Amino acid sequence: MSKILTTESGAPVADNQNSASAGEYGPLLIQDQHLLEKLARFNRERIPERVVHARGSGAYGYFEVTDEVSPYTRAAFLSEVGKRTEVFLRFSTVAGNLGAGDAVRDPRGFAVKFYTEDGNYDLVGNNTPVFFIKDPVKFPDFIHSQKRDPYTGVQEADNVWDFWAHSPASTHQITWLFGDRGIPASYRHMNGYGSHTYQWVNAEGEAYWVKYHFKTNQGVRSLDGEQAAEVLGADADSHQRDLHQAIERGVFPSWTLYVQLMPVAEAADYRFNPFDLTKVWPHADHPLVKVGRLVLNRNPENVFAEVEQAAFSPNNFVPGIGPSPDKMLQGRLFAYADAQRYRLGVNHTQLPVNAPRATEARTYGRDGLGALNRGGREKNYEPNSFDGPAQTDSPLAAPVRVEGHTGTFATPAHSKDDDFFQAGELYRLMSEGEKGRLIGNIAGFLSQVSRDDIVERNLAHFRAADAEYGARLEAAVAKLRAGDED
Ligand code: HEM
Repeated sequence: MSKILTTESGAPVADNQNSASAGEYGPLLIQDQHLLEKLARFNRERIPERVVHARGSGAYGYFEVTDEVSPYTRAAFLSEVGKRTEVFLRFSTVAGNLGAGDAVRDPRGFAVKFYTEDGNYDLVGNNTPVFFIKDPVKFPDFIHSQKRDPYTGVQEADNVWDFWAHSPASTHQITWLFGDRGIPASYRHMNGYGSHTYQWVNAEGEAYWVKYHFKTNQGVRSLDGEQAAEVLGADADSHQRDLHQAIERGVFPSWTLYVQLMPVAEAADYRFNPFDLTKVWPHADHPLVKVGRLVLNRNPENVFAEVEQAAFSPNNFVPGIGPSPDKMLQGRLFAYADAQRYRLGVNHTQLPVNAPRATEARTYGRDGLGALNRGGREKNYEPNSFDGPAQTDSPLAAPVRVEGHTGTFATPAHSKDDDFFQAGELYRLMSEGEKGRLIGNIAGFLSQVSRDDIVERNLAHFRAADAEYGARLEAAVAKLRAGDED
């Protein structure tokens, strides 16, 4: 016999097909607890979606250290070759809402939670090594400009390009996004980047600035605009389906993690500001150092519980890893946990996907909506005389030297820094075919802008990156706009 259906309080349900009514034709009864509970419960199934990166897919797996990096960091999970740590990874698109299609031109999120013995380490990155802006105060405006217009209710080319027209530093990321890698074929076929500069500190207290690169072992595969439109039309959930089915088939996707390392003393005179998120560190200056392998081998049992309720926060560090002064990162250190307190509640850290697994949370944080029995009967204040958890005396990261007066400052430029140099370098690295597709992709979108001044401001950025890049774009946009007038 199958198990008996119950109400939320565990009482047997006698009829799950017919509501209780006053007579056969009569109105329904308020005493039908099962009906009332079922309808009320259903009304509360949705929670706020993530304000960005709402659409995503997740999987569990492990990270295995393959190369010695203990000279650079004392992070316990990276301490020896062969060491494995459980991970949960959530991939995402950025601008679309929860039900949006997957095969779109948009950066992809690449958020990894390492369940380490020193607590959870969240590395919340993207599939691009750079970003559009360099100061977090611009982030809400940026996202507003990319999402639906408050009046027309659709994404407007005018808004997208108007924001970029006023943010010259976005030229590098735009060149990346409209290039061949702008629409990944699947989450398995793209790289992941920490993007920001972070700090590593070793057992001797020596600090390094570090950038993370996860290279896909499946090979990079992307779609062009036409292919993407076809995929999107046939299967809006193409990325989710691909990841889930690959893992079900036992074809486990993997990535190799490399880092770039910069001794702290080098940062002040490096020709690019190493804390500017719109710039990369050329590999010739800081070669890739291999760290390990990340493998995804288990699908979540329940998408809502484990993927929708997953909470990643760039301020979840472990001893041996810390933040850098990158202003964007500093803004993010606040934004995520704040978003999650709103989206999931103050006790979201106790949900199984978010709670530490290789250790336990020992905090005096108590109570709040949805609290489990954290702390039980133990004292809820510190210090106490009852053997409660006490602070460690070993520093978690290295001190960072600062000087100057408080104020609002533009991100400092080093000798080679301007908003266009690296965008031009990226363009010049492309093959003729890649350049042509890049021009076509940008022109197709930029030509939809209704105002000449917005188009011109953007063209000026591409000209500043590379004269040929700008000239070709100008011609392509002019041709498309002339065509529109016919
Ligand atoms: C100041 C700039 C930024 C702000 C204020 C910001 C804010 C946010 C917020 C509020 C969320 C939703 C969090 C949640 O509800 O759980 C989010 C998600 C996310 N952001 Fe950002 N973001 C910024 C820049 C970036 C950058 C530069 C990257 C990548 C390098 C990034 C990657 C992600 C990813 C991957 C997610 C989804 C995490 C998940 O899968 O749950 N964000 N961001």
